Amino acid sequence: MKFFIDTANLDDIKEAKDLGILDGVTTNPSLMAKEGITGTAKINKHYAKICEIVEGDVSAEVISTDYKGIVAEGKKLAKIAPNIVVKVPMIRDGVKAIRYFTDNGIKTNCTLVFSAGQAILAAKAGATYLSPFIGRVDDTNWDGIQLIETIADIFEIQQFETEILAASIRNSKAIVESALAGADIVTCPLKSILGLLNHPLTDIGLAKFLADYEKGNKK
Ligand code: E4P
Repeated sequence: MKFFIDTANLDDIKEAKDLGILDGVTTNPSLMAKEGITGTAKINKHYAKICEIVEGDVSAEVISTDYKGIVAEGKKLAKIAPNIVVKVPMIRDGVKAIRYFTDNGIKTNCTLVFSAGQAILAAKAGATYLSPFIGRVDDTNWDGIQLIETIADIFEIQQFETEILAASIRNSKAIVESALAGADIVTCPLKSILGLLNHPLTDIGLAKFLADYEKGNKK
């Protein structure tokens, strides 16, 4: 399973990279705004900075919602760096645009996916990645992880090549559950990635080993 970081914060991206586990980055307009990056020119410059840090795929989201606009915007985004993936919303014109990008060798991430039916459409259009938002599904009292399981089963049966990118992850437990459910990739905030490190028995065990080492060396 690949690890993407879900942020536009350069320090967090560098920290995840330094940890040696980073395969890519996802962003969205809300994450850009959170970092105070506004306006197309600044946003595109920021994508270029992210792509300089990370070798893996970097998802850059379009703002247009009509076919022509999505295609024009996506082509510009794809020119920023070879590892840009055009992130396209799961809407009618988005599906058409994904087919265009697929046919023209531009990678895509179909975003805002909340059902297996949407997943099938995106896969049929040839999306490189598919982003089911598991946290937001949970917010509506449905089961985000079950959605990942269902999509993974369908993709296995149908031999779809689209990779399942579990998104909207809010805690470390969801990373483990996504891995078990069949996600190809998880994209998550740095906090959730670092949370995987934690176990009280590791801390207790390490403290004991170090204390015993000190005792042994004092003799
Ligand atoms: C990433 O591709 C998504 O845009 C992101 O994970 C959404 O996360 P949120 O539901 O926590 O905003």
